[in-house]
Amino acid sequence: MSPEETEGDVSTPEKGDDWNKWLIEETERFEAEKRQLEADVSRMKRENAHLKGELARLRAPPQVIGTVTDRLKDGRVSIKSSSGPDFVVHISEGIDKENLEAGDRVALHRQTLAVLESLPSTKDPLVMGAEVDSKPSENYKDIGGLVEELNELRSTVELPMLHPKRFTKVGVEPPKGVLLVGPPGTGKTLMAKAVANATNATFIRLIGSELVQKYIGEGARLVRELFQLAQEKAPSIIFIDELDAVGAKRMDVGTTGDREVQRTLMQLLGELDGFTPRGNVSIMAASNRPDILDEALLRPGRFDRIIKIPLPEEEARLKIIKIHTKEMSVSRGINYKKIAAETEGLSGADLRALCVEAGMNAINDKQAKISSKNFFDALEKVKNRLTDAEISEPEGGLYY
Ligand SMILES: Nc1ncnc2c1ncn2[C@@H]1O[C@H](COP(=O)(O)OP(=O)(O)OP(=O)(O)O)[C@@H](O)[C@H]1O
Ligand SMILES: [Mg+2]
Repeated sequence: MSPEETEGDVSTPEKGDDWNKWLIEETERFEAEKRQLEADVSRMKRENAHLKGELARLRAPPQVIGTVTDRLKDGRVSIKSSSGPDFVVHISEGIDKENLEAGDRVALHRQTLAVLESLPSTKDPLVMGAEVDSKPSENYKDIGGLVEELNELRSTVELPMLHPKRFTKVGVEPPKGVLLVGPPGTGKTLMAKAVANATNATFIRLIGSELVQKYIGEGARLVRELFQLAQEKAPSIIFIDELDAVGAKRMDVGTTGDREVQRTLMQLLGELDGFTPRGNVSIMAASNRPDILDEALLRPGRFDRIIKIPLPEEEARLKIIKIHTKEMSVSRGINYKKIAAETEGLSGADLRALCVEAGMNAINDKQAKISSKNFFDALEKVKNRLTDAEISEPEGGLYY
């Protein structure tokens, strides 16, 4: 290449030393440019590879999520995918086989169901349906009646939490689990929340029916994680509401759904057994069907305290009505005693509904205050609704 051919405004010197110097400079310039271009090429190659990888990832078939149920001696595992039966599958290279345990969540190949990845456990109670409530707002003074029941609950749950030393001094182990049983709407959930509030404990509420229905195949794992979570967040109270959904008697184990309930129950029993009460984690449960609760759950060492929550007596009904009308604007001279006397058989929840209904009547009549008539009209309505429910639902007699 002759210097004349180079473009640009660089003037080409005549032959001689200047010419040589100019050639050297030009060569260096081109070399620098070449290096720059080479660097660009390699950067673009990297980018290309990255985008190809990304594309491949996006095009990859979805993986199936499964749960390890057992590890076999030959290095394979049995797994349960979220749909359908159990499988025995291989584990892909690069997975720490030793650390794979029953209950772990894994990603499976779509066709061969080989374990491709071990997934982090989603110990996210909100996602999993448990409600973690560091401080429920319910207070003891929101509870009408149930004086003895509440005292018993407090001495078995609140006392060991607030004064663990008293127990160690006397050498008595606090009870592991307390089961509240009683008809619907009698204040079981309310009591559990009020105790949690008084103890400042983390309140982990798990609803039995959700555990079984929503998380098919995951119930057992969830139970295990809940107990772990409770330990981590201690002091804490695990409250299993609607225990009857998990604790139904193991009569015949036919359908997959039944087997699932079974598995969840076994896990729950296992956790209760392996759980050493240290006072800072308490287990409470509530049910309105003690007749169908598995005896295994009620054995000593599991739910070893059972507190019966009855329908409110007249005096308690009066208190409950007063609690629920406290914030309402009510005319003077309402005969609450008469209302309490005429509400035999109504639960706390029914009485609250009665008060709300009376308030609605006042609003409909464009009154600023709730009158006596509003209350008695509401009473009529609530009672009718209850008798209708009994007629259409004869098995209601099974409750409690
Ligand atoms: N003893 C009570 N004192 C005051 N309010 C009550 C009482 N019992 C029930 N209630 C009212 O009824 C509502 C429902 O009660 P709660 O949810 O505690 O019933 P439950 O016993 O858990 O019923 P279920 O068995 O259906 O779960 C409470 O939020 C409260 O407003
Ligand atoms: Mg309840």
